[in-house]
Amino acid sequence: MGFPHPGIHHSRSTPSLFYTVVALSFLSLAALLIYKVDDFASQTKTVAGHNLEPTPWHIFPSKKFTGETRQARTYKIIQCSYLTCRYATNDAARLSEEQTKQRRRFMSSQVSEKCPNFFNFIYRDLEPWAKTRISINHTMQAKQHAAFRVVIVEGRLYVDLYYACVQSRLMFTIWGLLQLLKRYPGMVPDVDMMFDCMDKPTIGRIEHGSFPLPLFRYCTTESHFDIPFPDWSFWGWPETNIQPWDEQFKDIKQGSQAESWTGRLPYAFWKGNPDVEAPIRQELMQCNDSRQWGAQIIRQNWAEEAKGGFVQSKLSNQCKHRYKIYAEGYAWSVSLKYILSCGSLALLISPQYEDFFARGLIPKLNYWPGSPIDLCHSIKFAVDWGNTNPSEAEAIGKRGQQLMESLSMDRVYDYMFHLISEYSKLQDFKPVPPSSAQEVCEESLLCLAEPKQKEYLKRAAAVGSPTPPCSLAKPPNSNFFNILTEHKKKIIQHVKDMEMRNAVRHTI
Ligand SMILES: *[C@@H]1O[C@H](CO)[C@@H](O)[C@H](O)[C@H]1NC(C)=O
Ligand SMILES: *[C@@H]1O[C@H](CO)[C@@H](O)[C@H](O)[C@H]1NC(C)=O
Repeated sequence: MGFPHPGIHHSRSTPSLFYTVVALSFLSLAALLIYKVDDFASQTKTVAGHNLEPTPWHIFPSKKFTGETRQARTYKIIQCSYLTCRYATNDAARLSEEQTKQRRRFMSSQVSEKCPNFFNFIYRDLEPWAKTRISINHTMQAKQHAAFRVVIVEGRLYVDLYYACVQSRLMFTIWGLLQLLKRYPGMVPDVDMMFDCMDKPTIGRIEHGSFPLPLFRYCTTESHFDIPFPDWSFWGWPETNIQPWDEQFKDIKQGSQAESWTGRLPYAFWKGNPDVEAPIRQELMQCNDSRQWGAQIIRQNWAEEAKGGFVQSKLSNQCKHRYKIYAEGYAWSVSLKYILSCGSLALLISPQYEDFFARGLIPKLNYWPGSPIDLCHSIKFAVDWGNTNPSEAEAIGKRGQQLMESLSMDRVYDYMFHLISEYSKLQDFKPVPPSSAQEVCEESLLCLAEPKQKEYLKRAAAVGSPTPPCSLAKPPNSNFFNILTEHKKKIIQHVKDMEMRNAVRHTI
């Protein structure tokens, strides 16, 4: 042997110094590493809202992550963002090429039912790019108005995050897209989409007329290019105890069956938050008199009810009136679908903002058009009309409920599928995730979710569809939308005329 162990010989002379130096180097390396990791984590943006500022165009208080230590947060961000998708086992959305081909063959051999008529509006929403198509320039300019970007490539989803979204909107919207990939594996085309998650549309048809920017959000108006996309609440809204849509609809429908039409209170009901910069909601407060105006108006105390778990505002207990008022808030309101679900006559006070399914609304067929001019009189007129024509009023209420029943989650996914497919056909470039984007998968999103969010997300999980998406009609001819809009306007005018004649009769 005769080969001296270096450690033993040398350490005899300066044992403590040697070990101290080694230990100190390790410690400083570790400190540097911890510092680097911490620094890295503090620059990592997440779908839970870490390291993101509110959108400059709509400031709201930023989310505080205070329920955990800094170290725990750092670990969680690194773990969820960089280490989870790589080892994800639940890979249902990603098929091999052969499986994809098989699946497509199978799906195209199946007959599918026709999509609801309002799906036609996909063509109108995308019409601004039908000729020019969508270039990477369009996308990059839309970025200035976006809170995040979603790039889907070969069934994998990547997000590039720019700004925070209020509450859990971002997380639930991304969850919805992941569920779509799972529902139709191998079928969702590659796409690159810019999203804003705040309420008001921003791409005006006049200012952006010469170069329309494609931007997805939860609503639009007739004078905006913004493309409406199903809002987060279809997958649940944990902050207000609103359940994933299929469950929530079932609940409300069941609640609505507790009272027959004649057993329902013969006046109009509204409950909500009047303090949202919406003059119409302030005006509504003046109509709070069931004798004089046939209306009961309740102010929702959000802070109080949040403490009590929103028991007072349980939606299934709010179908006790024959008439339910919908008044827009700051923009569109997610409450529209819950109001229509009651089977009461929905009294819509001339909404300006429309979400994707609101295009299925036809005045006097499935809702009653109220007027903001002389609001209390308008409500009173609707209530009186309904009480003198109870079977017609009931039928309108029923058809409103049927509209919502036909909008099952299956159809919501179909809408997303067709909208994304049509959008992707217009892209004149091949989508590539930008270097700042991160892959998000089910596991990584759940990894970032708080316990209550996780519970909702899991309840809103989709499974692979046994049938293909509903079949989208061919693009209607260009007059279709004008004719439909004119038709709706005529009916609304007719109701206004009835109101006017009635007012005149009363003053004489
Ligand atoms: C895209 O934008 C850049 C800079 O704004 C411009 O130079 C270029 O011509 C644009 N390309 C197309 C195809 O419009
Ligand atoms: C409306 O009137 C009812 C009964 O008079 C009252 O309880 C309620 O607080 C009123 N609502 C508002 C918003 O003032």
